[in-house]
Amino acid sequence: MEKEPGASKTNYLRISVTDRCNLRCRYCTYWRDWRKLPSVEILRYEELLRLAAIAAEMGISKVRITGGEPLVRRGLVEFLGKLHHVPGINKVCLTTNGVLLRELAPALYDTGLRHLNISLDTLRRERYRQITGRDNLAEVLAGLERAASLGFHPLKINCVVLKGINDEEVLDLAMLAQDHPYQVRFIELMPTVSQEWWQRHFQPLSEVRRRLTVLGPLMPSTREATAGPARNFRVPGFRGELGFISPMSGHHCRTCNRLRLTADGKLRPCLLAASELDLKGPMRLGLGDDLLGYLFQEAVELKAGKARFSLVHSHQPGRSMVSIGG
Ligand code: 5AD
Repeated sequence: MEKEPGASKTNYLRISVTDRCNLRCRYCTYWRDWRKLPSVEILRYEELLRLAAIAAEMGISKVRITGGEPLVRRGLVEFLGKLHHVPGINKVCLTTNGVLLRELAPALYDTGLRHLNISLDTLRRERYRQITGRDNLAEVLAGLERAASLGFHPLKINCVVLKGINDEEVLDLAMLAQDHPYQVRFIELMPTVSQEWWQRHFQPLSEVRRRLTVLGPLMPSTREATAGPARNFRVPGFRGELGFISPMSGHHCRTCNRLRLTADGKLRPCLLAASELDLKGPMRLGLGDDLLGYLFQEAVELKAGKARFSLVHSHQPGRSMVSIGG
């Protein structure tokens, strides 16, 4: 994971606020073996706000709230309101599966939140049920529509491409960006469930792009400093954009600018590596902001491949997406 000179600065923190989820997506986790975290293990909102402020001191300017499904955690709206006021955090984003979005969108908007990512892998009801284990497609589409009409922007749609399941639907999904200012992003499946399932359903995005050539030439659009590994494109005649995220086949690490804070307070420099660094334990033992900042810095350096003290990071293999936050 050694970074080259000129690689992205770590300025983006993803915070998982819960490991609970109201869907059971096939690609996310071995749900059969899943045990929810005891509530006391999950960071309280005050703890999250404190860590966000420390992260901001360490150069983090963008925060994304993930889960599990963040909207199932009580008090999330109030928390988001406070997060917007943490000095140094100038961009707050939320990733949601959209199931509860229709009712919560106005309150979310009122917190100042504008950046929304919605997970949506199919537009077909039965297939949605097959992928997520729940019959909630109508709710998600209604939530998406409501969010768009309120003026959330950017509104990104995350679509994990699954060979043999939804890959023949990529054109339909891309068409969502024709009449709406959405950014439809195709994501390569990561091996978070069995190797066998991954091999069966992994679809390289090169194939997706080939299927989308009928839309005309894709023109690269400009990148922001906190953008990360997505490659975005404009399409002739489209209001929205398309994006491609290739963690498996692309040169992802060089542009990866993010750290992840798990729901139980561990910092992870890399989604696909097992190293993590516990912040909750030291924080609950009474460590001051300066020392917590030091631990944070350690994670940044771990990511840059130049950490000096290996004592502070533990290994917890086999964590699933639902606890890391995708
Ligand atoms: N591969 C790729 N993306 C995944 N996500 C969850 N599990 C995987 C996986 N195995 C993504 C989903 C969702 C986000 C929260 O995490 O796209 O939008």
